[in-house]
Amino acid sequence: MKKIVVFGASSSSKSINKKLSIYAAAQFKGHEIIILDLNDYEMPIYSEDKEIKIGIPNEAHNFYSTLKDSDGIIISFAEHNGSYSVAFKNIFDWVSRIGKIVWWNKPMLLLSTSEGIRGASSVLKIAHQRISYNHSYKIPTFSLPSFSKNFHVINGIVDEDLKKDFVKACDIFKLNLSS
Ligand SMILES: Cc1cc2nc3c(=O)[nH]c(=O)nc-3n(C[C@H](O)[C@H](O)[C@H](O)COP(=O)(O)O)c2cc1C
Repeated sequence: MKKIVVFGASSSSKSINKKLSIYAAAQFKGHEIIILDLNDYEMPIYSEDKEIKIGIPNEAHNFYSTLKDSDGIIISFAEHNGSYSVAFKNIFDWVSRIGKIVWWNKPMLLLSTSEGIRGASSVLKIAHQRISYNHSYKIPTFSLPSFSKNFHVINGIVDEDLKKDFVKACDIFKLNLSS
């Protein structure tokens, strides 16, 4: 049994990315799933001055060790103005000050969704590019456009072609997880 850490990269209590990430995690039955809420890692906005003044907050250390302790990571990214949500970027910045290896070379599955037809694909591209740098595994991605149209609370992804792409991405993650 592997330990999979899962989160939506959003601080919204109604996050559609959190929903998508949990749906993705449900595809990996028999594994331990740890769902994180970014609100539990709220910290001052990162600045070098604050780092000198207050040090690195415990929340960043907790986040870092939770990732370190996992076997795989699933993230679904919310797109704000074409990029990361502030909630995610702030955690990423703080955690990157603890150690250069934020993602610990773990197998990862990167997702995104929005109500728009591009499905937050800009942030997904940015995240994939950044996280893939020097990473050992090929990192699969999947973007779900028009969330409300294509996602059903019980049935999940309803469009057949999108579902196929999603399953393909999950299969790569599964393979990496078992290697
Ligand atoms: C400040 C802000 C900026 C946004 N910018 C984008 C954007 O660039 N592209 C996009 O597709 N949606 C954008 N949206 C809409 C989000 O995709 C939408 O709020 C979505 O629900 C965010 O995901 P979440 O529910 O997981 O937080 C933006 C929303 C906010 C609040």
